[in-house]
Amino acid sequence: MCWIFAYNWNKNSIPFLVEGLTNLEYRGYDSAGVFWITWDWKVFLEKAVWKVSNLAGKVELNNEKDDNYKSGIAHTRWATHWGVTEENTHPHYSNNERFFVVHNWIIENYASLKDDLIKKWYKFYSETDTEIVAKLIEDEFEKDLITTISKITKKLVGAYALAIINKENPDSLIWTKFWSPMILWIWEDSCFLSSDINALSQYCFEFFTLEDDEIVVVNNWKHKIFNFGKEVDRKAEEMTQEFATATKWEFETFTEKEINEAPDVLLNSLKWRINFEEKTITSETLKELNELDIERIEIIASGSSYFAGVTSSYWFKELSWMPCEVRISSEFLYDTFIPNSKTLYIFISQSWETADVRESVKIVKEKGWMTFGIVNVVGSTVAKMCDFWLYTHSWVEVGVASTKNIIWQLWVLLLMALNFWTKRNLQIKEVRKIIVEIEDLSKLMQAQLNDINHIKKIAKKYSQYKNFFFLWRNLLYWTAEESALKLKELTYLHAECYSTWELKHWPLALVWPDFPCVAINLKWVMETKTASNIKEVRARNTTVLGIITEGMNNSELYDEVIEVPETSHILVPFTPLIPMWLLSVEIAKILWKDIDKPQNLAKSVTVE
Ligand code: AGP
Ligand code: GLU
Repeated sequence: MCWIFAYNWNKNSIPFLVEGLTNLEYRGYDSAGVFWITWDWKVFLEKAVWKVSNLAGKVELNNEKDDNYKSGIAHTRWATHWGVTEENTHPHYSNNERFFVVHNWIIENYASLKDDLIKKWYKFYSETDTEIVAKLIEDEFEKDLITTISKITKKLVGAYALAIINKENPDSLIWTKFWSPMILWIWEDSCFLSSDINALSQYCFEFFTLEDDEIVVVNNWKHKIFNFGKEVDRKAEEMTQEFATATKWEFETFTEKEINEAPDVLLNSLKWRINFEEKTITSETLKELNELDIERIEIIASGSSYFAGVTSSYWFKELSWMPCEVRISSEFLYDTFIPNSKTLYIFISQSWETADVRESVKIVKEKGWMTFGIVNVVGSTVAKMCDFWLYTHSWVEVGVASTKNIIWQLWVLLLMALNFWTKRNLQIKEVRKIIVEIEDLSKLMQAQLNDINHIKKIAKKYSQYKNFFFLWRNLLYWTAEESALKLKELTYLHAECYSTWELKHWPLALVWPDFPCVAINLKWVMETKTASNIKEVRARNTTVLGIITEGMNNSELYDEVIEVPETSHILVPFTPLIPMWLLSVEIAKILWKDIDKPQNLAKSVTVE
């Protein structure tokens, strides 16, 4: 969703506000609203459902207005949880009509916060989570808004961008955000704020990107940025075509940087959803799922997101005896749709711009069946078409080859499978054991990143080949397919994937000295049977790279090995990912490929 916030001193800011909303309407919005204050402290609040032009018409007809506007906030809303009504349209306000708020995205724990406020006799006129924020501010406010905002944002779980005006002190306007984009522009004697760079970019040539939990205070068009109470001196950025690209840190490519980010944010992406002290799942969204009568799961996704879905199907069956079918979104669109009111349809997409996923969500929504979105790009409209959703919170992923976000998709899916454990009466102690292993795994993955020199050596040898077999068994299907996908995507070399027990039916015909095999043979995944299948390959004099668990021997089976840390059967799909991705990157470097922008591809597949 997008909004425009304009704090102005001597220009009529209302047309700017409405113009900014109009610039963003291409993304489709259900309603829009604007609140403004004049110099003599008169306040105006206009809302309109559907087109922004309806709002513009109302503002135009408001003959109370004059040109001495002091400041205003405006918002365009995409209704997902609640109806398209004027009552649900932003800006929302407190019971005492002193605090006015616009808000993007979702407060995940809105239900419990609303219950607490109702117990304190607060009255609500809308169904939205945003109105709760306005009441929370009223409830916590003592003497200054910065302290109040710092206090209430600690209670909020989810992703949000907030702009707040205190009617009795419009000189100080407050903005804050978490996981939602937010940009501050300075232009002549004005400050603008938007969650979308396209809103007023024609006017502004430099801007400030705000970090999570920062609070911006604008006072008479001068702004100050506070980070946990301390004023920060933020350097302005220049508006360029490349805007919104993250930075590469010390890495040559975004892809390498993003692989290196993968272990870091595990705890961050789960911290709102697992209490690692008590080893319990705390996500209110997942708790809501447990109230529903869900008997099966259908997962719809594409590419690497699809393979993440395939792995989670093992977890749903293994951990919660929940039948689970995984569908490629482009196929789902044209398959016979056998609706089942007790099916939870889970859509997985990093970008949420994937046309196949977008269309698949629409089909299921039209039938009125339960939809759940797993998404990284906070604010994408398609994710909010779902009845439920969880963000992977894996930050901006610039490399076309999806890496860190895939790992975070898996964490969210594993959490969902664990969350359904009641279906299988999985002992709580088993759930807690897995939660402990999840915490340990992020450290083990960090150590894998340090093995880069060994990976470079192997890349040097294997970059001479043109074809590869990736061999797997059981729940390592996804890991092998994802590893083969990355090799193809980054190096343009050919790779095929087969289960080792399948080899003798026909793939062995392809095995030849210049057709090396990458055998993923990990502890707890039928390692003995896999070893004997690999001997069939060795007998054909081909080269075998073993991806094995630390401590496993049978060195006579492999020409080279990459060892991965030992972990439980449930978590083994994670451990080969980082070395396999790094191997593909190193081979691509040797072959002089464009690692961040592979030929013929794009970060988001916005066409069917
Ligand atoms: C993965 O490295 C590829 N870039 C591609 O397969 C990608 O996973 C697929 O296009 C799905 O993208 P999404 O997760 O944004 O929907
Ligand atoms: N969750 C809020 C609402 O539904 C904000 C939605 C948006 O980002 O537009 O009103």
